[in-house]
Amino acid sequence: MTQNKPREQFASRLGFILMTAGCAIGLGNVWRFSYITGQYGGGFFVLLYLIFLVMLGFPVMLMELAIGRAGRSTFPGAFRKLQNPASRFAWYRPAYLLFSGNLILLMFYSVITGWLLLYACGFITGKFAGATTVECSEIFSDMQADPTQQIIGMLISVLLTVLACWGGVRKTVEKSIKVMMIGLFMLLILLVVQSLSLPNAKSGLSFFLKPDLNNFINEGWISAVHAAMAQAFFTLSLGIGSIAVCGSYTSSDASLPREGLWIISLDTMVAIASGLIIFPACAAFGIKADAGPPLVFITLPNVFNNMTGGSFWGFLFFSFLSIAALSTLIAVFENLVAFGMDEWNWSRRKSCSIFGTALAVLSLPCIWGFNWWQGFQPLGANSNILDLEDFIVSNNLLPLGALFMTVFCFSRYGWRAENLFRELDHKKSIVLPRVLVFYLRWIISLIILLLWLVGWQQKFWPDLLK
Ligand code: ALA
Repeated sequence: MTQNKPREQFASRLGFILMTAGCAIGLGNVWRFSYITGQYGGGFFVLLYLIFLVMLGFPVMLMELAIGRAGRSTFPGAFRKLQNPASRFAWYRPAYLLFSGNLILLMFYSVITGWLLLYACGFITGKFAGATTVECSEIFSDMQADPTQQIIGMLISVLLTVLACWGGVRKTVEKSIKVMMIGLFMLLILLVVQSLSLPNAKSGLSFFLKPDLNNFINEGWISAVHAAMAQAFFTLSLGIGSIAVCGSYTSSDASLPREGLWIISLDTMVAIASGLIIFPACAAFGIKADAGPPLVFITLPNVFNNMTGGSFWGFLFFSFLSIAALSTLIAVFENLVAFGMDEWNWSRRKSCSIFGTALAVLSLPCIWGFNWWQGFQPLGANSNILDLEDFIVSNNLLPLGALFMTVFCFSRYGWRAENLFRELDHKKSIVLPRVLVFYLRWIISLIILLLWLVGWQQKFWPDLLK
């Protein structure tokens, strides 16, 4: 079923760019990007990640924006509308499955956002002041062991998200994301300046920015290449329709390649700036950056504790991260809200209430996975529910969604290349050469397919290929 009312549109071009950038900019740019870069040896990994962003991320993002704008609907509805009517294959059916990735993503995203809010409060109330390395680690494990604290953090993040979506795209979503993005960029500049002025910042900078093949090869190049691609999809939230919904609210006059360039540049700028904050700070206090996922929650509090005015800087850093995470929560949640409105003709408020309640309840397993349900280790020893949810989304739905969109856009049984190109460049502000069709149709699909398979191999048979 599709909606009968005219679709809402962003009030301004800036609103569209910032909302889509807000959807992309999140934990992936700071938490995920920094720990993966630390693990895979710095500069060379960053270079590879940037190459994947341009070669894969950018074209797939354009396809997703175009599908959203031409379909003027959330994922399944857009596929239903755009597919070749002569085709007997119901393209919208797999789109439902891909779309479920939004909910699964938010089921752990809301929990991590809650941790960030708790950390920001912890810094401002002096909880971390003078804490030793062991104590910082204990604060993190105590938080994970305590469902109540985490539920409070998660509920606050869900509530803020629902409130931001409650009033509509123009009235509340666009406005709140605009304010948050401006706040985020200001905090980012402050934190970068502070970090770069620390003693020994240079050695952290060179680890982050100087490509060193030896560091990179240490971890196994196949696993590094896979991590770089997965990061490119995760950071842009590609493949599950959350970028498409931003496209669906965009004016038909907007040039998608031009706006896409803005979005990808803002996203990359935030990732690079996060590296400029984290690696010089680690180097300044002799802390290794290869701690993996706990980097932000265990390692960095030590860094702030060593700084003059550490509680203040720690508070600013976790506020910055909370804002980045909330902007993604809001944009992806808006996708769920729009889905209820598109598919079942729900009112916005009904959709917000139902999906908000569902999200709060469905976030509980992720929390309990760290305490009551600790014995459930779905992906092998020491894994938990968050790992499972992340694996479903990051290793499967995002790349498979990207592959599905590529096939849809270029297959004559799907949307077809000429329609995609017409949607992308009807303003002719950027003319895309048609020779790219071969690359987009075949090479991209092949790379994504290969790297998806490698993702499984790395997860379950890591010794097979290094
Ligand atoms: N794109 C979102 C992030 O980077 C999912 O966190």
